Amino acid sequence: MHKDMEGRVILITGAGNGIGREAARQMAARGALVGVNDLKEEFVEAAVREITDQGGKAFGVVQNISTREGIQAAVRQAAQVGGRFDALVNNAAWVRYQAVPDIQPETVDRMLDVGFKAVIWGIQAAAEAMDPERGGAIVNVASTAALRSTLNSVVYSGIKAGILGITRAAAAELGARRIRVNAVCPSAVPTEGTQRNRNAERDALRAARTPLGRLGNVQDIARGICFLVSDDAGFITAQSLVVDGGVTFTNI
Ligand SMILES: NC(=O)c1ccc[n+]([C@@H]2O[C@H](COP(=O)([O-])OP(=O)(O)OC[C@H]3O[C@@H](n4cnc5c(N)ncnc54)[C@H](O)[C@@H]3O)[C@@H](O)[C@H]2O)c1
Repeated sequence: MHKDMEGRVILITGAGNGIGREAARQMAARGALVGVNDLKEEFVEAAVREITDQGGKAFGVVQNISTREGIQAAVRQAAQVGGRFDALVNNAAWVRYQAVPDIQPETVDRMLDVGFKAVIWGIQAAAEAMDPERGGAIVNVASTAALRSTLNSVVYSGIKAGILGITRAAAAELGARRIRVNAVCPSAVPTEGTQRNRNAERDALRAARTPLGRLGNVQDIARGICFLVSDDAGFITAQSLVVDGGVTFTNI
């Protein structure tokens, strides 16, 4: 594989599983030194081991990023270990789908802390850690739910739509410092995080409604994240890349 990310130091939040873990694996395969963040030590250890077993470079950042101090500490640790700081992927989320009458304050607070406020504090910490001359890249993981909503997703859709606004506003402000800020909007792909909401029947229906004829997977989404972090996207900022096999904007 072409090592176009050699020398880059990249932190990915919630990278102990799912999309974040695969993005970490792909970036390490392209030569990056990847800080693998998660709150669970065993997830971090397994993800780092997978990368190093494949010849990549990674280190663990065990940290709960749901507070400003938490994400600041994660960015600081990555910058210290790597000696520089080039990119942040705001990927972690804690998600519950609830019908309007069932929405509880504790659920909303936790979803906001991990999935929304951490994006703001992450951008703040990353911008401070990045070299003012060299700049860097920030990718926020949103969702197709930001663009087209489904049942029981008032909180989730709201947060993910908000992330697109944050992305554009941060891109406007940080462009002068050569920091690009983009978002990825994945469709539903099988991960630990989505297991509770999936079944074979629903997956088959989704695949049939998708122009490309299948569900996505973590590899598909991670490739989109890697593209936006990479220099291939050097003149791309304030964008939302929809990685969904075409399902969001079609009706078949
Ligand atoms: N999987 C999908 O179908 C899908 C679709 C659209 C968007 N997304 C988005 O992609 C991102 C990743 O989703 P996934 O399905 O891979 O998730 P996942 O649940 O499989 O993995 C998320 C990881 O984040 C970690 N995490 C949770 N709270 C944390 C915290 N406070 N601090 C540090 N780490 C924390 C978890 O321990 C877990 O390992 C999320 O933002 C999600 O909303 C996922």
